[in-house]
Amino acid sequence: MYDFNYYTPTKVVFGRDSVQQLGALVKAQGCKKVLIHYGGGSVKRSGLLERVRSALALEGIRSVELGGVVPNPRLSLVYEGIALAREEGVDFILAVGGGSVIDSAKAIGYGAAEDADVWELYEQTRTARACLPVGVVLTIAASGSEMSMGSVITKDEGGIKRAYNDDLARPKFAVMDPALTMTLPDYQTASGCVDILMHTMERYFTAGGTMEITDSIAEALMRTVIRNARILHDTPQNYEARAEVMWAGSLSHNGLTGCGNDGGDFASHKLEHELGGMFDVAHGAGLAAIWGSWARYVYDARPDRFRRFAVNVMGVADTGSDLELALRGIEAMEAFYRSIGMPTSLKELGIAPTDQQIEELAEKCALACGGVAGSIKKLRQEDMRNIYKMAR
Ligand code: NZQ
Ligand code: ZN
Repeated sequence: MYDFNYYTPTKVVFGRDSVQQLGALVKAQGCKKVLIHYGGGSVKRSGLLERVRSALALEGIRSVELGGVVPNPRLSLVYEGIALAREEGVDFILAVGGGSVIDSAKAIGYGAAEDADVWELYEQTRTARACLPVGVVLTIAASGSEMSMGSVITKDEGGIKRAYNDDLARPKFAVMDPALTMTLPDYQTASGCVDILMHTMERYFTAGGTMEITDSIAEALMRTVIRNARILHDTPQNYEARAEVMWAGSLSHNGLTGCGNDGGDFASHKLEHELGGMFDVAHGAGLAAIWGSWARYVYDARPDRFRRFAVNVMGVADTGSDLELALRGIEAMEAFYRSIGMPTSLKELGIAPTDQQIEELAEKCALACGGVAGSIKKLRQEDMRNIYKMAR
């Protein structure tokens, strides 16, 4: 077990019609002008944007708006948002949407708070000293960005997708009404469930110290997401299942499932970010497509850990060697992914990278990780190339 800091400053307002509390939540921030940030149109179609506008207007809170955030959110829109925030004297950003909108809001927050190029943060050439406060109305359970320190932005030229992590950008509040996620396409619901699972699996599969309480929370979380993802696959309008998954999404990436371990592996995420940057795939689906190959590449380094996962999470019968059980656990997870319509290879994901593109993916991934990724097994560029090839 390692020492740890656990910091979750986000106020969570969870449940049916929680959007009704939005006006009071924003007012309590004491801000002068809010930037309402949203995506490609789902919040207009569902009527949520209108409800948000009314909630702010009722409290006499002034606002400006910037929509158009796309999945794998782009740096160009972040720059636009920074310019708008400065021009309008914005001092609070309200993200109404999913991970892409929240991450774009965080990036605008960093950029508007400091007179320097925000991309330098994502290139890891400096650290932030300030960020405008961000609040969230969540519309998809997936990224965990509503409580996380992360923000992931894609630079338009070259499709370079990079993350920046800093407590400064953890949202002040997150309004979470599971009913808001009922308009999601099934593919996005399933993709979100994979991302939630992966945020816990990345921390669970570690070669470093572990803690029994953290492992037990992680296993319960993973079992809960698997059970409810299956329910949502058959009955997407099930409120209870939506709620279980939504809360799991926040707990999976707010630091809880990493307490006491070594910070996790996160190699699958690093590998997927390059796929997102080059091919613009949905993040969770990209993770599902790469995970099995990653797992088969690394499991012999910690078969005991994979055995525990197989038995305690996937319900595999506890007989056989560590290596046998590890493989059965990986197969069971892949079968689950397929059962909810998620891919388990790049082909199923709908992409066919050439050898040259795989080389480029591996090169960019290694560069982004400073040469080495992962905990359970340390992966270098050649390992990354091998995993991408296995995933084809
Ligand atoms: O743009 P709109 O029209 O709103 O449509 C979105 C988008 O097309 C749609 N959608 C969202 N809520 C909806 C809805 N459609 C109907 N009804 C609703 N209620 O869903 C699509 C996907 O939205 P997006 O925000 O991209 O999804 P997600 O939350 O999965 O976010 C993905 C992004 O988060 C990053 C990913 O890399 C990716 O860029 N991540 C951020 C993390 C963080 N900040 O901590 C950690 C994660 O590991 C992840 O990397
Ligand atoms: Zn993720």
